[in-house]
Amino acid sequence: MKRLLPCRRSILSGTAASLLAAGCMAVPPLHINRSTDHYPKNTDDLTLRGVAGEKGLKFGAAVNAHELRDNAAHRQAFIRDCSLLATKNELKWWHLQPRPGDYNWAQADWLVDFAHQHNMIVHGHTLVWHEGNARWVVEETDQEEAQPRLIKHIRDVVGRYRGKIHAWDVVNEAVDPLDDRDDGLRETFWLEKLGVEYIDLAFRTAHEVDPDAVLIYNDYGLERGAELSIEKRVATLRMLEGMVSRDVPIQALGIQSHLSSCWDDFSQETLAEFLQQVADLGLEIMVSELDVIDKCYPADFAERDQRVSEVYDRFLEVALDQPAVKTITTWGLSDRFTWLNEFRPRQDGLKVRSLPYDDNMRRKPAWQSLADAFNNADERRLVQS
Ligand code: GLA
Repeated sequence: MKRLLPCRRSILSGTAASLLAAGCMAVPPLHINRSTDHYPKNTDDLTLRGVAGEKGLKFGAAVNAHELRDNAAHRQAFIRDCSLLATKNELKWWHLQPRPGDYNWAQADWLVDFAHQHNMIVHGHTLVWHEGNARWVVEETDQEEAQPRLIKHIRDVVGRYRGKIHAWDVVNEAVDPLDDRDDGLRETFWLEKLGVEYIDLAFRTAHEVDPDAVLIYNDYGLERGAELSIEKRVATLRMLEGMVSRDVPIQALGIQSHLSSCWDDFSQETLAEFLQQVADLGLEIMVSELDVIDKCYPADFAERDQRVSEVYDRFLEVALDQPAVKTITTWGLSDRFTWLNEFRPRQDGLKVRSLPYDDNMRRKPAWQSLADAFNNADERRLVQS
């Protein structure tokens, strides 16, 4: 790994003592001009899609249609910075088909059109997810109906957007070592009804409908050093290896990357090793839901933003050092629309500051971290762009 030299690591971990110990003082810090009061300006000259694009990378964010329609500043920033649009909720089964046969395509159609108008690829999220099921699916599907129902859902959705959605999260979060199965898979509705084959079935069905779409397995908790994360990586690799050996049409792993200020076990080496193992299977890697849970950082905005940006730095340095990583997607572009205020609130009641833009669409140090990381990355090529 050429870039993760002791000096770079020490610079990122920051203390003068660690720099001296590693004999690094001659190397300039990565962000020499990034003081705690440094907020990058919103200009059209430097955009994340531009810097990423120069390296063959796509940058984007997850979004719901109303977040773009109702907020002009957000929409402008999105158009300026994103070459990829991930659908946040509006392609989930509960949204698309809340009642049997009652399809609700309007928001997803709008997002796909918006993306194309502004020259963005679309990352469709998600076809099969235990939390994404419509309630009626779980309540009204017996053993016999399960397979045709899953197939029909995938055919309907992938078919509608054939040629328009670049990549699909076909299956989301199918691994959970806490469920204590030998294969590490999560006990879900689909596993119970169809057995472990539901995963292959979902990929094969999506591929039949749109053979050009990039098909992704997506999951969280793969990034840290904790025991559970280790088990999850092992189980995920085993599952992916099996799929590859059975010629299941899968092209990529999505690592969600909801990172946290509370982790003390993040290890660049461990993550790098995992990414290499995935790449060795011939798969691409999409960083699919990046953000930083900031609840363990102080209230002060400037200090918090700086610390959050350092989490982005450490993570992106490893992620972008791996040539198989082709896209970076944050779970929202602005703190105004982060899910974390509801799901990982701060004890002090202050709003979470986890994304590249603040509530008022001002660029934050995290934006600069992304720009710097793209700038430092080697050039690469999307398999199917
Ligand atoms: C998971 C899911 C997403 C979204 C996020 C946070 O990571 O994949 O669809 O629900 O949680 O809200």
